[in-house]
Amino acid sequence: MSIDPGFPVAEAAPAKVNLYLHVTGRRDDGYHLLDSLVAFAETGDLVEAGPAGPGVLDLDLAGPFGPALAADGGDNLVLRAARGLRAALGEPALGARLRLTKVLPVAAGIGGGSSDAAAALRALCRLWRRELDSVQLSALALGLGADVPVCLGAVPAHMAGIGDRVEPVAGAGLAGLGLVLVNPGAHLPTPAVFRALGGRFGAADRLDPLPDAPAGIIEALAGRRNDLEAPAIGQCPIVADVLALLRGTDGVVLARMSGSGATCFGLCPDRAAALRAAAEIRRMRPAWWAAGGGMYKGREAP
Ligand code: C5P
Repeated sequence: MSIDPGFPVAEAAPAKVNLYLHVTGRRDDGYHLLDSLVAFAETGDLVEAGPAGPGVLDLDLAGPFGPALAADGGDNLVLRAARGLRAALGEPALGARLRLTKVLPVAAGIGGGSSDAAAALRALCRLWRRELDSVQLSALALGLGADVPVCLGAVPAHMAGIGDRVEPVAGAGLAGLGLVLVNPGAHLPTPAVFRALGGRFGAADRLDPLPDAPAGIIEALAGRRNDLEAPAIGQCPIVADVLALLRGTDGVVLARMSGSGATCFGLCPDRAAALRAAAEIRRMRPAWWAAGGGMYKGREAP
């Protein structure tokens, strides 16, 4: 990646995919308890950071979905993460210029905003040469969103609690698989999908340990589910069309919705198959967003 001198620090914000997602209960505060296996795709946004005057926090938006975020005004997760980090450090005079290149569709179940917030926290710790201890950093992340803690590490992980309990898993068998992500352009607000679940909670069925062989992983995943898929389809039937198209596409061995939708993913035996599947889906549905690639292979060394 070439470095822009105005933004010397760059952090990838990879898409998060819930390979399965079981909703096992609800807390008194309305948040739901989850059992999920999360992986990260090579496809993602980019957060860059550079110096600015004392106390200044600026955000430039770029990329195909930049305009969709600009419409939200100033309260996006990258700026909230930056303000939160400054407050946690107790140094309000720290300043930064940030640039978010938005490749992932917004509010789409693939953790775009959460991964952006996590990448902003990592980028600003590097830019400012500051560290928060892991307890403080996790608390800050969770305050920004339930998916932000898992996005901080951006490695395959089991997620439990409301997203606050994150345990990285040895993901060697996952690493070679390909992912195709498909979003039909429909917006599904997360709280509405949880509400539509209406308290029909499922059992946790944690895939632990992860099988070593990719075929074993796919077989084990096929026996699991995303509990939010049916309520999401109830609210937004086009999600069923996305799943049907994925299931009928060459190279896709498993198709499922991610998070609260509307993005669905197809697992492919390898990266090349995922690239071919995404190209085929873009040809079939030019108005939909489809991206193929491998699993995210880790952050660049600082
Ligand atoms: O934390 P985040 O902002 O991503 O969550 C958005 C909304 O999704 C929450 O306000 C809540 O309604 C719902 N949610 C939930 N249980 C979770 C995560 C999110 O009920 N574990």
